Amino acid sequence: MVKFSLDGKTVSAPEGELLVYAAARHGVFIPTLCHDEKLDPYGGCRMCVVDVEGSPRPLPACATRVTAGLAVSTNSSVPQYRKTLTEMLLSEHLNANPGGRPNELLDMAEELGAAAPLILPDAKREPYEDRNRLMGYDPDACILCNRCVRYTQEVMQCSALSLEGRGPTARIVPTHGHSWLDTECELCGGCLSTCPTGAIYEKFHEGAPPQHERSLDQVKSTCTFCGVGCQIDLHVDPATKRIVKVTSDPGYVSNEGNLCVKGRFAFNFVHHPDRLTQPLVRGEDGELHPTSWDDALRVAAEGLRGVKERHGPQAIGVLASARLTMEENFLLQKLARTALETHSIHSCEAT
Ligand code: SF4
Ligand code: SF4
Ligand code: SF4
Ligand code: FES
Repeated sequence: MVKFSLDGKTVSAPEGELLVYAAARHGVFIPTLCHDEKLDPYGGCRMCVVDVEGSPRPLPACATRVTAGLAVSTNSSVPQYRKTLTEMLLSEHLNANPGGRPNELLDMAEELGAAAPLILPDAKREPYEDRNRLMGYDPDACILCNRCVRYTQEVMQCSALSLEGRGPTARIVPTHGHSWLDTECELCGGCLSTCPTGAIYEKFHEGAPPQHERSLDQVKSTCTFCGVGCQIDLHVDPATKRIVKVTSDPGYVSNEGNLCVKGRFAFNFVHHPDRLTQPLVRGEDGELHPTSWDDALRVAAEGLRGVKERHGPQAIGVLASARLTMEENFLLQKLARTALETHSIHSCEAT
């Protein structure tokens, strides 16, 4: 631990910790735009600049590390830089708020009372239409923070996206070809999740896209597609009670906010009319009939007990699945070994 000065107060932090985190632990919030805690320090947007004694210019708190004796000021001339920077970013964007998606730049503008003084004549960027059906990119909302490119390189370890062009022609493009589908992209949606402005967005909506994503209800759940058990947030339209999109929080332990294509986009099965919504039991007529859970469990228990009595417990085998949660698999082997008295339990994924 080393001591340093933060807005006139002496505080301590582990040597080498990024200033933005050290300040947050001492109650000083420094806003960021291009920073993502999953990615390496970048220092591209300058939204987080702070004054550091002895430095000829303000330094980005997201890329500056704590050293002993550092004297940092976050509240002198810095707020004015932030407002000017926000106004400059807004003046480069024709469509800063497409589709009502959450947008950290607009949140910052509201907090700072910043508005675009004018829209630059060359603010309109070349439109972009990707033929993949899951994600889109709107260059008019892109602030070129490079978070999407860094995510795909640093987290997904691939080079699916690149920054192309300079100045007003700069935009994010697939590295090869004309679509994410021409690259090694796995459509995990990670670039979408890190984008601070909604420039990369879900094309895939269950029903009409909502005008204001923040009005959606959120329900925490577990992805059902595999045994990794990624934690997800289901965004539910309160009017239709249908899932509109899926996100994941970086604080979730099992997956740290990362998902694969199934967890992020394959949620419309939930509302499919063919899904079973109640238990079915085969009747004397050989057909399946809806029944209550109590009745279905009674019939299953009687069937298993009958096999055990007639043929012995080794006549029963239980197949578990990596698609169940760890807890459900644990309970299944308990049921097999203690109630059914068989050790014949196996997972279909183990073969
Ligand atoms: S969807 Fe995933 S793999 Fe594809 S570009 Fe984005 S981060 Fe990379
Ligand atoms: S698409 Fe989003 S994450 Fe990528 S550079 Fe633009 S604003 Fe940043
Ligand atoms: S998001 Fe992908 S990796 Fe995570 S639990 Fe679902 S299917 Fe498995
Ligand atoms: S958030 Fe620090 S420079 Fe962008």
